[in-house]
Amino acid sequence: MLAPDETVTLYDFEPRVDTFREAVVAGLSQSPRFIPAKFFYDARGSHLFEQITELEAYYPTRTEIAILEAHMAAIVERIGPRAMLVEYGSGSSRKTRLLLDHLIDPAGYVPIDISREHLLASARALARRFPDLPILAVCADYMDDVPLPRPEGPVNRIVAFFPGSTIGNLEPDDAVAFLRHVAGVVGPGGGLLIGVDLQKDARVLERAYNDEHGVTAAFNLNLLARINRELEGTFDLETFRHHAFYNAEQGRIEMHLVSRIDQTVCLGDGPCFDLVAGETIRTEYSYKYTLEGFAALAERAGFHVETVWTDPQAFFSLQFLHA
Ligand code: TRP
Repeated sequence: MLAPDETVTLYDFEPRVDTFREAVVAGLSQSPRFIPAKFFYDARGSHLFEQITELEAYYPTRTEIAILEAHMAAIVERIGPRAMLVEYGSGSSRKTRLLLDHLIDPAGYVPIDISREHLLASARALARRFPDLPILAVCADYMDDVPLPRPEGPVNRIVAFFPGSTIGNLEPDDAVAFLRHVAGVVGPGGGLLIGVDLQKDARVLERAYNDEHGVTAAFNLNLLARINRELEGTFDLETFRHHAFYNAEQGRIEMHLVSRIDQTVCLGDGPCFDLVAGETIRTEYSYKYTLEGFAALAERAGFHVETVWTDPQAFFSLQFLHA
């Protein structure tokens, strides 16, 4: 069945998308080497990520949903009626649906994503479920200063939604810059409902990123497979292993791909890169915060933490910030 398309309006700011090749060449040329995490999500990567979120060992997704469900009444009361909901990224439609199911007379829903394809697919799926909700989809980079569209009818306030502890995938200074940008978008009186993963026993953290089924390992290694598929890479996946560990000093999970041997890998006819045995390619950080640490970060960005909701084990938090 086709979506009733008139309920989704696309505002296309035609963001410049880094090419995979440029990013891989730049990241592999540096020391230490890295590949930007945003390239995880090709079709196979997105599928594997879905599987990660369903793993018993991976507590964040189900815990965040449980917090949302348990505290829904307080959350929608905090947001209030006639809010315009702005969502950064459009991958988490299950949480968005839950929230929109309960929001009090929302003025509109404005998803922002750099991927036109993902943006439209999830906006159309939501439009089928919420036929009366104005959906104004914005194709832009998160950090671009684009003028946000306004739905018709009164808007009480703008509230941004940033679930999944995606904020933890930014280094703290970049997280502050992003939050400062969001504070500008929602304006004075605006809010931000954000999922923030919390510091905890390293064994719990490390298990979440080293599941016994090897799904996270497959997800990480898929980056190399993607380089082979799309960039004529010569990576032999057997000679790399997934390595994820908690760096307690920095408060972050680090994900790496470790070369098991001395080797040279190339992209087509070049460039080529010489790796020594044990050398790593970093693929992602996932910062974990204390409540105090995150409150301080939010303050630096012009936000004030108004309410924190957590699960009984205090593994994860959903926080309402006021701009
Ligand atoms: N932001 C979530 C986290 O850090 C989800 C996520 C992003 C993730 N990249 C990942 C989970 C890589 C596992 C592996 O947990």
